[in-house]
Order: sequence, then C-alpha cells, then structure tokens
Amino acid sequence: MDIKFAVPCLMGIEALIADELKAIGAGDVVCENARVFFTGDEHMLARANICLRHAERIQIVVGSFEARSFEELFEKTKALPWEEWIGRDDEFPIKGGYSRNSQLFSISDCQSIIKKAVVERLKSKYGISWFEETGAKYAIEFSIMKDLVTLTIDTSGAGLHKRGYRLAANDAPIKETLAASLCTLARLRPYHTLYDPLCGSGTIAIEGALMAMGIAPGIRRSFAAEKFANVPPEIWAEERTRALDLIDRDSEFRAFASDIDPAAIETAKENAKRAGVDKHITFEVADLADWERKTEKGTVICNPPYGERLMNPAEVNELYKLMGRKFTRERGWAYHIITPCEDFEKYFGKSADKRRKLYNGMIKCQVYMYFK
Ligand SMILES: C[S@@+](CC[C@H](N)C(=O)[O-])C[C@H]1O[C@@H](n2cnc3c(N)ncnc32)[C@H](O)[C@@H]1O
Repeated sequence: MDIKFAVPCLMGIEALIADELKAIGAGDVVCENARVFFTGDEHMLARANICLRHAERIQIVVGSFEARSFEELFEKTKALPWEEWIGRDDEFPIKGGYSRNSQLFSISDCQSIIKKAVVERLKSKYGISWFEETGAKYAIEFSIMKDLVTLTIDTSGAGLHKRGYRLAANDAPIKETLAASLCTLARLRPYHTLYDPLCGSGTIAIEGALMAMGIAPGIRRSFAAEKFANVPPEIWAEERTRALDLIDRDSEFRAFASDIDPAAIETAKENAKRAGVDKHITFEVADLADWERKTEKGTVICNPPYGERLMNPAEVNELYKLMGRKFTRERGWAYHIITPCEDFEKYFGKSADKRRKLYNGMIKCQVYMYFK
C-alpha cells in the first residue's frame, strides 16, 4: 500500500529528519515548517517509528483539502476513505488539532465536525448506526494552515521522544529528540569521544551512544500502530530484526558524563543501563570547575541551566564564564552549547564559529558551536 505520512517535529530540525528518512529508504521527502512529509508502505511505517531519532511522531495522512466553512469541512472529511484504516469496532477519537491563519479557527467545533463526518462515512460503509469503539485506537489529528486542512491518523501512540529508558528524570531534562538533534548537529561519529560535563539525567550521552552504536531509539518500546489491522505483527518483527542487525555490537564508542548533583548521576546511570549503553559511558559526580579532559580529542555537547528553572541569571552567567575558561580552543576539540541566553558569547568570552537556532520546547535557543 502506498501511504503518505507526516512527521511533526521541533522547529529547526526538519532537515535532520529529512536526511534520516532518506537514509531508511522513504520516498518523496518534503520539509515544511515543523513538519516533514514522506511516502512508503507498511514496512516504512514500522521502520520510521522504530528508527527515527529526531521525530515526535509518525502520522498517516488520510487526506488534505481546502475548507473555509464547516459545511465544506464536513463534506470533504466525509469523502475521505477512513474505512481503509478504521475497522467497524475500532476507536477513533479526534485527538488534537491546530488552526493558523485560517477562516476555521474554533478547534472544538472543528473537532466535533470531523468526528461527525468520520462517523457518517463509516456508518455508510459498515451499515451500522452505533460504534462501540472497543478495538484498536486510531487517534485522528488535524491541522489547518491558510485554509488547507490535513487530516491524519497517529501511528506512534506515546511521543517518539519516549524511548522507554528514562523512567526518572532530574529537574530540567532535555527532550531525547532534542538531545539526538544536538548530537547530529555536532556531527558526532562512532570514533569520537563525547563529553557532557553538565549531564543531568544523562540524555545527551545516552542519545549520543545510541546513535554512535547504531541502536534504533524505538527498539525497546511499543507503538499504537502495532494494533492496526493493516500493519500485521510480522512487519513489526521484521523491522525490529532489521534494526537489531544494524547495531554495532563491537563498538568502542566512549562518552564521559558528569554533573555536580549526585542524585542526577544516579538517575543517569539507571537510564543508561535501561538504554543498554551503560558500558560505554563513564559517569562521575564532578563540578565543572574540576572538569578534565580524559582523551586527546573530544566532542563536548551540553545543555547548561538557563537561569529559569535551575539557578538564577547571575549564577548562570558565572557558569557560562567558567565554561569559557574550561572549554579552551585546542586541536581536536569541539564544543556545542545550547542556551536561550543571547549574551552567551559575551560571558563565554569567545564568538562562536557557528550558531544554529533551535527550540527547546517553547524556548527559543541557539546552539553555540566552537570547532576551530
Ligand atoms: C539543564 S540541566 C541538564 C539536563 C540534562 N541535559 C538532562 O537531560 O537531564 C543542567 C545541569 O547542570 C548541572 N550543573 C549546574 N552547575 C554545575 C557545575 N558547576 N558543575 C557541574 N554540573 C553543574 C545541574 O546539576 C543540572 O543537572
């Protein structure tokens, strides 16, 4: 079956997802703001869920059309082939949606009209008037951008950042998908040594290790579409085997992760163990002031406190100054720091070789990169 998919993502990492999609064999990859589209079959549906490191979820695009009135929204939604996916007993909640620069802007009204239209369509296809909705869950989501409605079915269930290894987190953990994006932007390679001297719950070191060792981030979790009739268990089993075959079991990848907070280090160790990468990461309780290089070359990636949830702005500025003193320009060393602080370079004491805008949730940040 030729399926069109949409991948919502954090703003600024569309191109990273497009590259990942091309690498796993997806077709017709097109980037939009905070969304990437592609095509593929049922295998690709499973593969994208299991393998993509930077994506938030994978959605099936059931249809796309222009609508400026509720009548149009109803009729065009009803005209779509919902029965190709949703069976007579299945559950089909209208989960969420958003509308931007469009005539239809009431989210709750759009939600109930879409539900009515899907019900009408399925009534006519299955010849029944009441839906028990006790079967598999097909969560319908909608977006309306400049009057263009796109209707999708979610295949992921829990967001893809939930890899399954992070049960506990410290106070301000970075999202796993963002940590993976930082590793990709830093061009982390299996033969590099990764350092995170402000590691918190260890997300950057863990994502770096998963990436360097070729471990698919979704290998340990389940997905909503595992219950879909169109995506039988054999497909999931084959894709999991494919992902397992790609793991570099002889990897010599090494990461060093430290933090001043002993409780954070305990959490990080547990997370790394669950992720199956604990043998590749050395964790240590240490103040950045005492941070030392353990190797000749290294890639430092870190997510310091922003002075919002952790520390106050004056303390954070002192920490950025300390980072500037510790992260000296040396051959074979690169540093990547994500922060919303617009004066970061002033405190750090050096202009970045490259800056990249990236959102940490709703917080507009920059990744300051030093590699020369
Ligand atoms: C934003 S959190 C990092 C979160 C982490 N990326 C994660 O995913 O959990 C910043 C971390 O910096 C640590 N920290 C603050 N000052 C430090 C210092 N002087 N030396 C080492 N760690 C420090 C805090 O304990 C905190 O865990």
